[in-house]
Parts: sequence; C-alpha cells; structure tokens
Amino acid sequence: MTRILRIDSSARPGNGGSRSRELADQIVKNLKAQEPDAEVVIRDLAIAPLPHISNETIAGFYTPPEQLTDDLRAALSLSDELISELKSADTIVISAPIYNFSVPSALKAWVDHVVRINQTFSYEDGQFGGLVADRPVYVAYAYGAVGYAKGGPLESYDFMRPYLTLLLNFIGLTSVTSFSVEGTTADDAAVSASAVEALAQVDAQFAA
Ligand SMILES: Cc1cc2nc3c(=O)[nH]c(=O)nc-3n(C[C@H](O)[C@H](O)[C@H](O)COP(=O)(O)O)c2cc1C
Repeated sequence: MTRILRIDSSARPGNGGSRSRELADQIVKNLKAQEPDAEVVIRDLAIAPLPHISNETIAGFYTPPEQLTDDLRAALSLSDELISELKSADTIVISAPIYNFSVPSALKAWVDHVVRINQTFSYEDGQFGGLVADRPVYVAYAYGAVGYAKGGPLESYDFMRPYLTLLLNFIGLTSVTSFSVEGTTADDAAVSASAVEALAQVDAQFAA
C-alpha cells in the first residue's frame, strides 16, 4: 500500500488556523484522490515535539555500528525511527511556516535527527552524496508577509525554502514540489484571497 508521510511544523495544530497545514491538507486531499487507499502517517511536530539531539546522539552518529553500546543505541533510537519513517514513505508532505525568516525550530529538530552520516548522506573523498532514494516530496510554506517569491522584495530574506530545498536535495530527495501562501497576517479578506489562490495552485498542479 502506498504510504504518505506528512510532517507538520506550525505551532498551531488542529483548528488553530494554520495556513501551512491548510495547504498540506489540500496536497494530501489531491494525493488521496489519486490513490484512495494510500495510508497517511502523520508526524505532527507541534503535538509531539522532538527533543533536540544530545551529546549521546551525536556520539552515536559517529560510532561505527559494531562498536555501539546499549546506551548509544538507545540515544540513536529516535533518529533511527525518524529515518526509517522517512525511507519507508512513498511520498512525503511537509508543511512549514516561516519563523524569523527560517524553518520553525520544531522542524529543525527533525532535520538534526534525520540528516545523519552514513544513513541519509555519505561523505567520501571530499564528496557528499544523498543516501535516500528519491521519491516525490511536496512542501507547503506559509509566510506572514508578502514578497518572498522569486524577484520579490523579500526574496533574500527567505532562509526557509532555499534551506529546506537544499537539505532535501542533499539527502537524495530531488523531486520536490513547493507551494506557498503569503500574506497570512494581513486582514481577513486578503488572507482568504491568498489562501484560495494557493489552494487553487495545488489543485492545478495535480490536475496537470
Ligand atoms: C514566531 C513567529 C515568527 C514569525 N516570523 C515571520 C517571518 O520571519 N516572516 C514572515 O513573513 N512571517 C513570520 N511570521 C508569521 C508566520 O509565518 C505566519 O503567521 C504563518 O502563516 C504561520 O504559519 P501557520 O499559519 O501555518 O501557523 C512569524 C510568526 C511567528 C509565530
């Protein structure tokens, strides 16, 4: 059965009015329309925040597998679980709001567990290589202000989308499709108009 892994990172879960989650809902709706039997695995980083990596986790990252102690294995178990969740998904959906011009720290914590030497990337002879087999990734971004799109006045302030795109590419995920909703902190009418347009862009992408 096709498995969709959905990772949400806005600190506004449920009916909190999250625009990035609304966009991700639309992506999942379209994926499910294509494959009604697809399983959706949800990793909600607001409802179940991940701890930051620890000293032991880092020691585990750099210890050869045959030398791992029980303590180091325990320290790696969350990273193991998150990497296995990622690798076992056929399609990945990530939703992210811009917080202080970058990804929310909840998502950065996920990144630090998942981007791991000899598991999701290699480094040999001075060269990095991705170790995650490519598969479709859809990313839903929300921005409070307007102007982050290519050529816009805030393009150079966006350390979220270029960062996440690079990181996904770095571990081998190059089939990345991104959607954005901007101006989410404007007045209600303007926000509704931006949201309608962004949701329509998702539908148009899947209809193409
Ligand atoms: C802590 C915090 C930092 C934010 N930083 C920015 C920012 O740097 N640039 C911006 O355009 N909007 C910023 N915003 C606004 C959010 O990106 C916007 O409200 C977005 O819609 C939040 O995502 P959500 O609707 O999925 O919860 C910030 C919001 C919060 C709560």
